[in-house]
Amino acid sequence: MKKKLFITRKFPTHIVEPLQEFYEISQWDEEEIVIPRDKLLAAVSDCEVLWVTIADLVDEELLTHAPNLKLVTNLAVGYNNIDVKALRKQGIMATNTPGVLTNTTADLVFGLLLATARRIPESERYLREGKWKSWYPMQLVGKDVSGATIGIIGMGRIGQAVARRAKGFDMKILYNNRRRRHEAEEMYGFQYVSLEDLLKQSDFVVIMTPYNNDTEGLIGEHELALMKEDAVLINASRGGIIDEVALYDVLKNGKLWAAGLDVFEQEPIAMDHPLLTLPNVVALPHIGSASLETRTAMLMLNVKALTAYGQGKAISNRID
Ligand code: DGY
Repeated sequence: MKKKLFITRKFPTHIVEPLQEFYEISQWDEEEIVIPRDKLLAAVSDCEVLWVTIADLVDEELLTHAPNLKLVTNLAVGYNNIDVKALRKQGIMATNTPGVLTNTTADLVFGLLLATARRIPESERYLREGKWKSWYPMQLVGKDVSGATIGIIGMGRIGQAVARRAKGFDMKILYNNRRRRHEAEEMYGFQYVSLEDLLKQSDFVVIMTPYNNDTEGLIGEHELALMKEDAVLINASRGGIIDEVALYDVLKNGKLWAAGLDVFEQEPIAMDHPLLTLPNVVALPHIGSASLETRTAMLMLNVKALTAYGQGKAISNRID
């Protein structure tokens, strides 16, 4: 008998269809709309395998509704939407999509950094709104990226890929991470510093650390106050790492120059969120890994795990 697989989103048919060899598949049939919680809880009641996105919370409550669940596969490298401890207690496996999105995400981070430093979205609005009447010296002046100091919080795969890009811009590269990266330090000249020193010395602070109990609210009022007043903060990891109320205050009051944000505490961000009223915020809708090649590769990593499980083989990319 085929195993039951529930998919929480409409994924491309050509990617899902081959899995029919192993699975009886049902799925939420919307591409853009998140499955409502009550429908998700009902849908998991008889499934053995669940394929989710970061918008779906797989927590203890869900597990009580899913007595047959054995495998959860997540279409993301970050897995803060999954209560891994609760899954482990019940012997349920989980997988994610590491590796394939590293360069795509680092490209976006660097694009966001440049866009924020050089006020690119604001400049485009200025032109389209008919405000461009002449050229003058201090018109839309931004901050230089080349030669500046970048401080990267979280030197995992993506953090290192951002640092390599920064090297091409002749930046001084500071980092803070749970573990020292001696090899990368030697190879590229990255410099390990305390979080405090990183915040004090960097012109650009880039958050690339995973979101978990240790990093929730990592950048709050105290940490923001340590930063240079003309610094830029970039976050493409998870919104909950920054205290958004404190961030709004420093940006509004000229205590921080600008922020580039691809992620928010609540996603989608509410259109009346105070951060969206500030011209010195560049806000993106969580598109770090959004290239056709990479999103396809992420889906295919999930398919690989699902295929292996369907065949009774060892599963790669397990979250342990
Ligand atoms: C991830 O993979 O964790 C991203 O945030 C979503 O692509």
